[in-house]
Amino acid sequence: MPIKFPFTKSKKQPQSQPLGLDYNHLPQHVAIIMDGNGRWAKNRGMPRIAGHKEGMSVVKRIVRYASDAGVKVLTLYAFSTENWKRPKNEVDFLMKLPVDFLNTYLPELIERNVQVRTIGDFGVLPSHTQKAVQEAMEKTKHNDGLILNFALNYGSRFEMVHAVKQIASKVKDGELETSDIDEELFSSELYTSELIEPDLLIRTSGEQRLSNFLLWQLAYAEFWFTEVYWPDFNESHFEKALYDFQNRKRRYGGV
Ligand code: IPE
Ligand code: IPE
Ligand code: MG
Repeated sequence: MPIKFPFTKSKKQPQSQPLGLDYNHLPQHVAIIMDGNGRWAKNRGMPRIAGHKEGMSVVKRIVRYASDAGVKVLTLYAFSTENWKRPKNEVDFLMKLPVDFLNTYLPELIERNVQVRTIGDFGVLPSHTQKAVQEAMEKTKHNDGLILNFALNYGSRFEMVHAVKQIASKVKDGELETSDIDEELFSSELYTSELIEPDLLIRTSGEQRLSNFLLWQLAYAEFWFTEVYWPDFNESHFEKALYDFQNRKRRYGGV
């Protein structure tokens, strides 16, 4: 499904604008590695899952902000293909979070004209997770406001290997020639095929790595890191990231 252009300004822009954000030059696609939930909880003597729960309310606030500001796509790394290594109780909790999030928040997403999507290996998620997310996608599929894209059981290497397999079988079946394979074709086999590429990547918690997130798609994104743990991340941090993005000089290899 193509993304709707041109840029349309939201009626409800965020109240405070102390940084002087230019709403006509926002990143169109912001990707976030929401990290540090466990450490946030540990610092408070709480179980790791308490950090995930708190992190969920930050998701709500940032979605509101992004939707008010007029960001086109917000991709949130919610669960990686490597996160299955965690203790069962934590994995179970993380699989339940989208259900809780959508149970309480889907009406507001609908009201805000948000379109819910996912990237990742969706079919192996527990059925209650799949059901809640599928319902949200179905109910919001015609919305043309913010695209809220959850990376669930997402791994960039898995995604790329899957794309290569798809292309290889098309070549084998005679649907494609090897010479047809180019960057555009490869991109079209990725989960993100219908989305514009992220122009800003945010990672919280002080870690400065990609952890198997959007390796292909982030080729020319601007990176923005903060020491703040995800449950402490707020609208001001987000606004600062957008502001810093606007003050970067993107050269794409040129001068
Ligand atoms: C990010 O927080 C959430 C997920 C990976 C699901 P973490 O759970 O990784 O928190 P830390 O990094 O251990 O503090
Ligand atoms: C990346 O965070 C995955 C998500 C935020 C969902 P991790 O906490 O899993 O990454 P590493 O293990 O520190 O690289
Ligand atoms: Mg982490």
